[in-house]
Amino acid sequence: MSRILITSALPYINGIKHLGNLAGSMLPADVYARFMRARGHEVLYICATDEHGTPAELAAAKAGQDVKTYCDEQHLIQKTAGEAFGLSYDWFGRSSSEENRHLTQAFCEALDRNGLIEERTDKMVYSIDDGRFLPDRYVEGTCPHCKFEKARGDQCDNCGRLLDPTDLINPYSAVSGSRNLEVRDTKHLYLLQTKVEPQLRAWIESKTQWPQLAKSIAMKHLDEGLIDRGITRDLKWGVPITKDGKPRDGFENKVFYVWFDAPVEYIGATQEYFNAKGNADGWQSWWRLDQGAVDVTYVQFMGKDNVAFHTVSFPATIIGSNEPWKMVDTLKAFNWLNWYGGKFSTSMNRGVFMDQALELLPADYWRWYLISQSPEGSDSSFTWEQFQSAVNKDLADVLGNFANRILKFTESKFGGVVPEGGEAGPQEQKLYADLSALLAEATEAFEAMEMRKAAQAVRRIWVLGNEYLQEAAPWTAFKTDVERAGVIVRHGLNLVRLYAVLAQPLTPFAAQSIADCVGVELPLDWPTTDAQAELSKLPGGAAVKSGEVLFKKIDDDMVADWAARFGGSDAA
Ligand code: 2FM
Ligand code: ZN
Repeated sequence: MSRILITSALPYINGIKHLGNLAGSMLPADVYARFMRARGHEVLYICATDEHGTPAELAAAKAGQDVKTYCDEQHLIQKTAGEAFGLSYDWFGRSSSEENRHLTQAFCEALDRNGLIEERTDKMVYSIDDGRFLPDRYVEGTCPHCKFEKARGDQCDNCGRLLDPTDLINPYSAVSGSRNLEVRDTKHLYLLQTKVEPQLRAWIESKTQWPQLAKSIAMKHLDEGLIDRGITRDLKWGVPITKDGKPRDGFENKVFYVWFDAPVEYIGATQEYFNAKGNADGWQSWWRLDQGAVDVTYVQFMGKDNVAFHTVSFPATIIGSNEPWKMVDTLKAFNWLNWYGGKFSTSMNRGVFMDQALELLPADYWRWYLISQSPEGSDSSFTWEQFQSAVNKDLADVLGNFANRILKFTESKFGGVVPEGGEAGPQEQKLYADLSALLAEATEAFEAMEMRKAAQAVRRIWVLGNEYLQEAAPWTAFKTDVERAGVIVRHGLNLVRLYAVLAQPLTPFAAQSIADCVGVELPLDWPTTDAQAELSKLPGGAAVKSGEVLFKKIDDDMVADWAARFGGSDAA
């Protein structure tokens, strides 16, 4: 058993997340966490709301609330939505926590002591009409690289490049729309990333096992050349800047840049978790190499736009601190899940959001679709038709129908009891061989965090069960040889049990319903590749019941209705 630390990129506090956010970090992280738990590992899955910076301030202003109240409310909304989706965080924290404030300040002070922080006078965009500086997202304009017209001051959503507000062409204020802007001097702290470049490069180059997308983005950023980064901003809401534990002279009205404190919250949230449990030092064995974290395997999940921050800025902070912090072992990145060729967008309210999704259908339907269409090799696109097909064909026809058919047959012919006696024949031998191979494939794919492959392997295991039942035809055998029919039914019911086990990471609510049908308690250990042993777990004599329909089908009218309501159609 190993200890596995898992984090998914912290969702911004600025409103409930859309399915694209879910598919690109929280959901695959949850699937992996659930899989690793079922494999018997000790898992700590941490996430939190990312509550500082311009996204929070702008959203609060739009909602007409003070930032603190806005964050309190939105944190709860996101926490509740996550739970409803079955996201099995061990802790869902807040980057505005006291724990994170202390850690963030301590990191900066350590960097400062090591000569890696420099005060520089910067030229920043100032809005005369708004009477304030416009850092990051407060300013929008045309991207100098790809000419996208709504690029934000910190990053272009179209080409993914990191930007400085002064890079933008034709800038305007995101608060008022005013173009009455000028560039003024203001003092900021810079993290001298260039000084740790050699260590950073050596660290990234040592990560030969990283999934390809993460590694290629990391190398691209290194090869483009590192620059020193401003880590403070002219904002009110955020972590205050200190020196020797006191407010830093000249920085009283500034806070840390949100991307400086957000990744630190991975550690902060772990502290929040252990503090809440009354074990104030518990976090250390997960994060401090001198306190046992050498045994930890740390995996991060995120969308591709977050990779630079996790492979350059945050590691530069950690390396530069010269302290024994645990660093990420594997970084799993995702491309975009698009919405009809465009993007899901929080600001433009494009797509389906987590709360809306659950009003339409249960979480498992979305989980299955989003994982089976996971944007791994390239961007993928949400369409209602594909969603309908994934639910109707995979979940209802292949999985649900199999379970229902064999359970109903057991009820009508075997009194709802797993039949005893009889020996496995050639059809079962073939089933064992095929199933062993597929179990190995599924397990390997989950281990490698290859979500699409994992879902496909699980689907093929469902298909295999259907084929077995079709060929062995217990309903025919029953007429002439009840014992033979009993052997087939017992294998069928054991397949149902196995499907509950395999469903745990992907569709955890359905896993529970299926387990209830065959009278087993979850959680159950992930199966070995010994298919014969796996198909003998449900003993003869055990009671089973058919229960409710596991998955309802989506009809064409529902699709038309949703497409009209959410704007998704091929023409949109
Ligand atoms: O892009 C985002 O949604 C950021 N809020 C992710 C932060 S990840 C971590 F570093 F906190
Ligand atoms: Zn661009």
